[in-house]
Amino acid sequence: MFDYVSYKDVDLKGKKVLIRPDINSNIDVQNKSIRESPRIQALGKALEEFKESAVVIMAHQSRPGSKDFTSLKLHAEELKKYTDMPVNFVDDIFGEKAIQRIKDLKIGEVLVLENVRMWDTENKTFEDFSEAEKLEMIQALAPLFDYFIADAFGAAHRAQPSIIGWPKLIAGPTVVKEFEYMAKLLDNPEKPIAMLIGGAKAIDKYKAMKFNFENDRLDYALCAGLTAILIMEALGIHTGEPNKKAIEKDLSKAKDDIIATYEKYKQNIILPKDLIINDNGNRKNIEINDLEEYNAVTGDIGEETTKEFTNIMKKCKTIVANGPPGIFEEEIFRKGTKDMIAAMANSTIENNSLTVIGGGEMGTAAEMFGYADKVSFISTGGGAMLEILSGIEVPLVKALREKKP
Ligand code: 3PG
Ligand code: MG
Repeated sequence: MFDYVSYKDVDLKGKKVLIRPDINSNIDVQNKSIRESPRIQALGKALEEFKESAVVIMAHQSRPGSKDFTSLKLHAEELKKYTDMPVNFVDDIFGEKAIQRIKDLKIGEVLVLENVRMWDTENKTFEDFSEAEKLEMIQALAPLFDYFIADAFGAAHRAQPSIIGWPKLIAGPTVVKEFEYMAKLLDNPEKPIAMLIGGAKAIDKYKAMKFNFENDRLDYALCAGLTAILIMEALGIHTGEPNKKAIEKDLSKAKDDIIATYEKYKQNIILPKDLIINDNGNRKNIEINDLEEYNAVTGDIGEETTKEFTNIMKKCKTIVANGPPGIFEEEIFRKGTKDMIAAMANSTIENNSLTVIGGGEMGTAAEMFGYADKVSFISTGGGAMLEILSGIEVPLVKALREKKP
């Protein structure tokens, strides 16, 4: 299903390797700290395979212009908790400073480079991989390494230079493990299958949902977050201006398509019955039909919705979650996400269901609530996982296939 050379297939001993993981994390911007990051933990675990190599880490955090677009110094600090290899950081990507530090790096040491998206060109995509190979960053760094380890599963859908631009690519430990679970989900998963959809990036999630329905790979879409808002607004259910604003662009492009899809699969698309707003610091449960009147941001799924989603999960043998159903970072909006993750964990414990949580945010939530080891698997991929489960050959998968050493 996936065609690649694994890190296990090469001799890493004494080699200098560049690892490109996805450690994009949930940042507490006010306190300048990282919230529990399953992605950084995964990197710590992956590093165990590279103890006899000199390891340089190249990764990104967020996007230019976002509040959580930070230096990777934070990540380097956090990584120290999860590895006993010495970890250092350099505030450079491929300038003289970085190059010198890479050249001096010893076996058994780890060097984290600065957020690669601080280099403008990284924020562009290159469908033609050979174009990316010519870029200055690739040209400057490629000669310094024996192997390039593609381990950014969470960013596998981004055809950005650091992901697909290296001359040869080898799949790293995180990617290899992710592929194993993706293969399980793609290859005849046990039915019924539910997908819990939350968080942002509404249109991407809607498209993935539609694709999976059309290919008979989905029985229930439990819709929350902005995807639910998008579908409800398309159907003429007014959720209030602050909600509508967040999906307006997507709505104008996809409205007719959403209406048609809903018409076709309305038995299977489960929309919220109630949502939560912040009423002077208290959770207030609002029926869907009253949302317009309150005209406030909804931050979580309500009691009835939680009950209905839980009951459906009890019937399912495969459950995939992508994106949190609520803004769980805020105490007041936390309950829905916690209950849904608990329902998934129960489904595995009681029903032996395959439960997979996807997306950096949802993984963080599972850690926060203590369920990380009670679901079948926590994927480090959100959008990437969705695209792969939609049958798309994402750029990283294609690059691994085309750039085998
Ligand atoms: C993510 O967290 O979704 C990945 O790291 C990719 O980030 P991006 O959506 O900003 O490209
Ligand atoms: Mg993300």
